[in-house]
Amino acid sequence: MSVAIPQPAPPQAPVAAEAYGSIEKQLEYAVPEIASFDYVSTGVRELDEALGGGFIRGKTYLVAGETGCGKTIFSIQYLLTGALYYDEPGIYIAIDEPTEQLLKGLKRFGWDVTELIRERRLAFLDMRTHFSKIYLREERRKIEPRYIIESILNAAKKIKAKRLVIDPIAPLIYGGTPEDVLYVREFLREMVFALESVGTLTTVMTSEIPTGSKQLSRFGVEEFLATGIIVLGLEEMGGEIVRVMYLRKARWAPAKPIKFVFDIVPATGIVIKGTYRGSR
Ligand SMILES: Nc1ncnc2c1ncn2[C@@H]1O[C@H](COP(=O)(O)OP(=O)(O)OP(=O)(O)O)[C@@H](O)[C@H]1O
Ligand SMILES: [Mg+2]
Repeated sequence: MSVAIPQPAPPQAPVAAEAYGSIEKQLEYAVPEIASFDYVSTGVRELDEALGGGFIRGKTYLVAGETGCGKTIFSIQYLLTGALYYDEPGIYIAIDEPTEQLLKGLKRFGWDVTELIRERRLAFLDMRTHFSKIYLREERRKIEPRYIIESILNAAKKIKAKRLVIDPIAPLIYGGTPEDVLYVREFLREMVFALESVGTLTTVMTSEIPTGSKQLSRFGVEEFLATGIIVLGLEEMGGEIVRVMYLRKARWAPAKPIKFVFDIVPATGIVIKGTYRGSR
């Protein structure tokens, strides 16, 4: 019985050296770009350590959590840290809540930011008011994603912002519905690309996770575009409900899988109490 031995493939013609030319050029071109990362403090020391130094400068991060888990407090703490300790002005894009109401809430919390706003170290941009003015002026002109992105970048430029917060991201996507995944994906891709093109603007977007859901974001696409995801939540520990924070994804960071337990302390913000040890 003969055994069929597969015939060796005929020798391939050598690939012309020129075929590699473009790759070589790319490689040469890429070399000067490779530098060690520059980190931006998140405002929470333990989280900076878990991230290997903090957020990577110029990138976009997602802070996800159910309602009331501390996304806004985290975001403001991130901006305050930059404005107060690093000479990094910050801009906060509010969509859900009028700025006035937010500032009142912050003051009640013990964070009176009026002086920082006056000194242009912090700016609060109320997108809802901003857009309704455009609607009035330009008779229901369709608000293009490009226009929204431009408005944000212009505002950031005005105060030379190095930090940006969009809290939360979902309502900014006008005209998009959770079913319209393609539209949302393109909008977000364009936005993250534009923001990261600035190179020095480190962004935190927040996303509300529907209570009880296993999702990380409203549209299910935000997480793929972000460099890292921080999840805030509430969990039961020893019969008590505690606030928890953990890193769900951290591109290019030797992130440790640590779940922190934290408190929200008026005038101070997020205070890590220790690590979570499941006791169910
Ligand atoms: N003055 C205060 N003193 C102590 N804790 C406060 C104070 N104000 C708010 N908190 C705590 O902070 C939590 C709210 O945090 P935050 O507003 O950051 O949540 P969020 O995730 O942004 O919620 P949402 O999804 O509704 O925007 C509240 O649930 C409350 O426990
Ligand atoms: Mg909030």
